Amino acid sequence: MKFSRAIALAATAGLLTLGTAGAAEPIKIGVVLPYSSVYATIGNDITDAMRLAFDELGGKVAGREIVLIKEDSEVKPNVGLAKAKKLVHQAKVDLLVGPVASHVAGAMAQFVNQAKIPLLIPNAGNNLLTGEQCSPFVLRTSFSNDQFVRIMGPWLKKKGYNTAFLMASDYAAGHQMMDGFKKSFVEAGGKVVGEAFPPLRTTKDYAPYLAKVKAAKPDTLFVFFAGGPAIQFVKQYDAFGLKKDIQLSGAGWLTSPLFLPAQGDAAAGFIGSLNYIPSIDTPTSKAFQTNFKAKTGRVGSEFAAQGYDTARLIFEALKQIGGKTDDKMAFIEAMHSVKITGTRGSLRIDRKTNNIIQDMYIFETKKMGGKVGYNILDTIKAVQDAPKGCKL
Ligand code: PHB
Repeated sequence: MKFSRAIALAATAGLLTLGTAGAAEPIKIGVVLPYSSVYATIGNDITDAMRLAFDELGGKVAGREIVLIKEDSEVKPNVGLAKAKKLVHQAKVDLLVGPVASHVAGAMAQFVNQAKIPLLIPNAGNNLLTGEQCSPFVLRTSFSNDQFVRIMGPWLKKKGYNTAFLMASDYAAGHQMMDGFKKSFVEAGGKVVGEAFPPLRTTKDYAPYLAKVKAAKPDTLFVFFAGGPAIQFVKQYDAFGLKKDIQLSGAGWLTSPLFLPAQGDAAAGFIGSLNYIPSIDTPTSKAFQTNFKAKTGRVGSEFAAQGYDTARLIFEALKQIGGKTDDKMAFIEAMHSVKITGTRGSLRIDRKTNNIIQDMYIFETKKMGGKVGYNILDTIKAVQDAPKGCKL
């Protein structure tokens, strides 16, 4: 059986085996991501990209197979925590990867800190986990929420947007992103004229919230929505007819390549920030796009890019320690010293915070060649968080 076919079949059974069977014990990676509810597409995108990276790398370190054991977080903190415990205590995983959502990450981080199991976060941006509540065992390969939004306040103000209305899903990530944006916008001289926080898992109708925006007449509506909510919001914003009067802006996931096919032309005319744009013209990004498309039929989104880079960073660190996963501190030390040229350019984990240092892009969405695409307006190099009370 061909290697990648073996992976595909094992994956459907929930257990993902990489490489051919060997005598040595496998390296078990517990993966806690959403495979149901509002962020299911994000969980699948990250998983597919991790699978691609490990597949390309040969799926083995020091003769040990890399095995991924998947669990569904359902975008619920209590479920994510229970699944992390199950993976550590029952499946005896060597390390954990996950989750997507900030509140789920908050619940899992306390547990891994006590259990002393490394957790590699491939998405959830919860600022506290690489700030005030940092832990040697929690490392993030994706972003902090603040990294995405604090660059947008001064940028929008400079472009002449003086007033903003803020809107985001009502949970940790939404509040952190709006707080971070507000601080940077107000410091730059901007004024916030209103805020609204629709519930994350249950909101279907954004019209009551959009009516408030219409009445407040801001220069820009700054938002954070991802997954199912991003698709619904973008379509409803377009239908509501505010686009011509109010510039839509926000954290760039709103119009991720993962959501664009469902959003269609409604996604045009947005200004956002992202840590990866599919058109980035580097050999690593181009190869990733070609191979991800061949494997999944989809454009590689920033979520997929994060999954791919996460797997590559893990693989390099495992290689450095010769596959000896019992020494968790040696693995963490290796994660600190690994540097890769990833899909997102040069990547490394900051020893002071355990958060990734990366370039950020400010873009606008535009109809180009018959479909909506990204036009990069600015690149901000090596965006790094201050430790904010984190002592590692
Ligand atoms: C988060 O909850 O931290 C989160 C979720 C989805 C995103 C970004 C951040 O696209």
